[in-house]
Amino acid sequence: MNLKDLFISYFVSKGHKQIPSAPVVPENDPSVLFNTAGMQPLIPYLMGEPHPYGKRLCDYQKCIRLTDLDSIGDKTHHTFFEMLGNWSLGDYFKKESITYSFEFLTKVLKIPVTSLAITVYEGDDKIPRDEISAQTWEQLGIPKERIAYLGREHNFWIPGDSGPCGGDTEIFYWRDQSEVPKVFDPEDERWVEIWNNVFMEFYQDEKGNISELSQKNVDTGMGLERVMAILENVEDNYLTSIWEKPRKLLEELSGFSYEEEPIAMRIILDHIRTSVFIAADPAHIKPSNTDQGYILRRLIRRAIRYARKLGLDISSNWEEQLALCYINEYQDYYKELKENKEIVLTVLKQEKEKFNRTLEKGLKIFEKVSQKTKEIDGETAFHLYDTFGFPIELTIEVAQEKKMKVDEEGFQKKFLEHQEKSRTASAGKFKGGLSGNTEKETKYHTATHLLNAALKKVIGSSVHQLGSNITEERLRFDFPCDHKMTEEEKKEVEDLVNKWIEEAIPVEKETMKKDDAIKSGAECMFIEKYPDIVTVYKIGDISKELCGGPHVTNTKEIGHFKIKKEESSSAGVRRIKAIIE
Ligand code: SER
Repeated sequence: MNLKDLFISYFVSKGHKQIPSAPVVPENDPSVLFNTAGMQPLIPYLMGEPHPYGKRLCDYQKCIRLTDLDSIGDKTHHTFFEMLGNWSLGDYFKKESITYSFEFLTKVLKIPVTSLAITVYEGDDKIPRDEISAQTWEQLGIPKERIAYLGREHNFWIPGDSGPCGGDTEIFYWRDQSEVPKVFDPEDERWVEIWNNVFMEFYQDEKGNISELSQKNVDTGMGLERVMAILENVEDNYLTSIWEKPRKLLEELSGFSYEEEPIAMRIILDHIRTSVFIAADPAHIKPSNTDQGYILRRLIRRAIRYARKLGLDISSNWEEQLALCYINEYQDYYKELKENKEIVLTVLKQEKEKFNRTLEKGLKIFEKVSQKTKEIDGETAFHLYDTFGFPIELTIEVAQEKKMKVDEEGFQKKFLEHQEKSRTASAGKFKGGLSGNTEKETKYHTATHLLNAALKKVIGSSVHQLGSNITEERLRFDFPCDHKMTEEEKKEVEDLVNKWIEEAIPVEKETMKKDDAIKSGAECMFIEKYPDIVTVYKIGDISKELCGGPHVTNTKEIGHFKIKKEESSSAGVRRIKAIIE
């Protein structure tokens, strides 16, 4: 049985409900570009909101972490990875959680206890040392000398700068051929972390103040790639069966063995897999120069450059062959890969063709400059970016290989001069983390439902949500529509929304079976993304939508609604940006 299936069936047998993996692009959270952990979509429930599925949950979650982008090429890092997780939302706590993890690893996966070591939270001035976890581990058979107490930088987990948080206990495995040392040394990198059990009982605000949550939660995350490497007894994650087909294909296409060119192959394998998952996401990300689109572009272009280095015929359909390996491998678990297969292949192909046209010319610039100087100045870096499509990170990488430097500041200056407007891929977003919804964002959530309803009345019943994004400053809403909205239509929509706000209509929340919700006419964006039990928000007889919330309790709380912009988002899709004053 597959590791994902084993994990889910174990936790289901312990009373957990499986929840679907959330999309890689967070649906209502502009503070991060991608989901970085299984717990991210669960934040409202860790904070106390009842989850429609109950108090014990488990899943496998698609995650993308960009902090590791520069480490790709080694044996253990990936930009895309899967996280296996189980949660207790105010139900069981440390003892049960640790017992479940121990039993799954040693009984189900049959990993020897003698290869395991543990860290627990040493405590600080506010939180006591975690003796309960340590005792539990000992009772289960982990010797004292294999348990280490570590401080906040190691054994405390918080998503970003603020949010639900707490001390954690981490499970390590001795991933080396040599004999397992008796005493655990957490500094020794041959001990690799495989599972992290976070005991989320606190909330930390932006200022660093800690308060107790209304419930004690458990949030665990296990890296699927690492566990696979253990089970298959390899030291290199890329040598597991997950990568076998694409790896062999690369060997065949390039004529090199994996052992000869491990770094280039890992980069290509990783980047194409991540690109497949981004392009297949319901958010319909396309390569661009901002936000997620920029990451997708960088990944594809970097993969192309490495493919060229390996001597692949970069204008052949190598990327399609690789992508199909991944689609086949994962489609039974992530339906969007099957459904969006053609979209994925087209995105990759078009981006490849675009970059192939300029790659050679761009590389020639490096040759030319390197004959004269050791630095790519800002102007040239911008020229490479603007005319030859070299993401700045790629320019820096190529320069490094040629022992050259890049004037990054000079590039930024040029970039700002030329692209003042499109400078939205703000560096801050790459940090990860998620802040809870503020009062203002809550208002925007409800305003979005009213806008959807108003558009249906004005444009037609075919209108529905194709994308939504909310910040403190505005809402953004994408919907199908074949024409630019007229001034009259915009005014009509605005007036309708404001009329409903003035009518002070209560917003009602109901939990029900997904089937019943759909039968009752509630609408939603991606039906298959919802669990069987869902929350429905109803605003009088105006709107009824499946939604995770949060929402105001009465429309009068929203304020005055105003459309700021109506523009094209892509073919046949319009985008509205609106504010509330
Ligand atoms: N949130 C923790 C992590 O990402 C456990 O799921 O490691």
